[in-house]
Amino acid sequence: MSFMSGRSLDNYEFTFEKYLTDSNRIEADSNEGLSSHHGRMDTLSITESIAASEERFGRTYHSYRSGSYNYPNDPTEIERLDDQHEIIKLVMDGRNYLAPFSKEKPPKNILDIATGTGTWAIEMGDEFPEAKIVGTDLSPIQPQYVPLNVRFFIEDSTEEWDYPERFDYIHTRVTLGCWSDMKTQIIQKAFDKLEPGGWLECQELECLPGCDDGTMTEGHAWLDWAVKLCEASEVTNRQLNMANQIKGWMEEVGFVDVQEMVFKIPTNGWPKDPRLKYLGLLWQRNVMTGLSGFTLDLFNRVLGKTMEEIEVYLINVRKSLFNRQVHSYQRVICVWGRKPDDSEMRVA
Ligand SMILES: C[S@@+](CC[C@H](N)C(=O)[O-])C[C@H]1O[C@@H](n2cnc3c(N)ncnc32)[C@H](O)[C@@H]1O
Repeated sequence: MSFMSGRSLDNYEFTFEKYLTDSNRIEADSNEGLSSHHGRMDTLSITESIAASEERFGRTYHSYRSGSYNYPNDPTEIERLDDQHEIIKLVMDGRNYLAPFSKEKPPKNILDIATGTGTWAIEMGDEFPEAKIVGTDLSPIQPQYVPLNVRFFIEDSTEEWDYPERFDYIHTRVTLGCWSDMKTQIIQKAFDKLEPGGWLECQELECLPGCDDGTMTEGHAWLDWAVKLCEASEVTNRQLNMANQIKGWMEEVGFVDVQEMVFKIPTNGWPKDPRLKYLGLLWQRNVMTGLSGFTLDLFNRVLGKTMEEIEVYLINVRKSLFNRQVHSYQRVICVWGRKPDDSEMRVA
């Protein structure tokens, strides 16, 4: 089911809700022995064209507003982003959004901030053929041939949003590490650029892993890595653990009907439930693919580590990610809120 009617998710039954939402503990698979294994998975599709980029550590990075975003934009990263898109959709029960649209009341003007490969924007273009979708990013990593109702622009979204039109739906997803102040740079500007009654939806990932049963202890290499990465990113003024503040920021800016749904993605195949095990394996593969790219620039520039030192350090991090005795997960926090109608604004 992809469409909803009305403004609440009350009647929507999420297949995964009972396993994944923040309030629930995920049951570990007691059959997991000490030596973890993982199945090899096929690689997914790669978007090929990449325009001007800077090269460091054998990876490429965006050159427009160089140094603003600390992670690569090369084919490896593009493929990882498209895998991540599928995983997050799986988490959200096959949906691309939680804001209450319907076939009868579809969005007409959609803005996807920091669109990445643009896959979300393209799928929204297919789902809402009457809508116009604009996707923006620092990197030109979107495909050349896209549906007629989808356009991409290279843009730094921390700067003024110079769009002639107003939007009725603005979206962000996994933009941790993009902003020095998401509240003023994105949420306030989205409020200003939305039509009254329009929706902002942020589907954001927390960097720091969680664990509900004490199996992830202080020395765990994956946790140590995440803490170090968050600290290094703070030095570059890019917060990586901001998702749990978005609901409050939206309310402070003036959004109403703000709702939050928190999902847990297992870090590997430790859960008992087969679907969660599968999700964990997909996530593990995704993190494995991304790990060097997440780490190299920040650990080199901020922590002063050489590429060789970083790769040696990552060996244990990778090993720890295979340990199914550690029941860790990452949270995806989805928040959506409505800009009040003119009449509601006047009352306020
Ligand atoms: C982790 S990716 C997520 C992409 C996409 N939203 C998704 O969910 O697949 C973050 C994206 O933000 C873009 N980005 C970073 N800083 C930005 C900025 N200041 N303005 C626009 N895009 C930015 C990066 O180039 C990258 O493509």
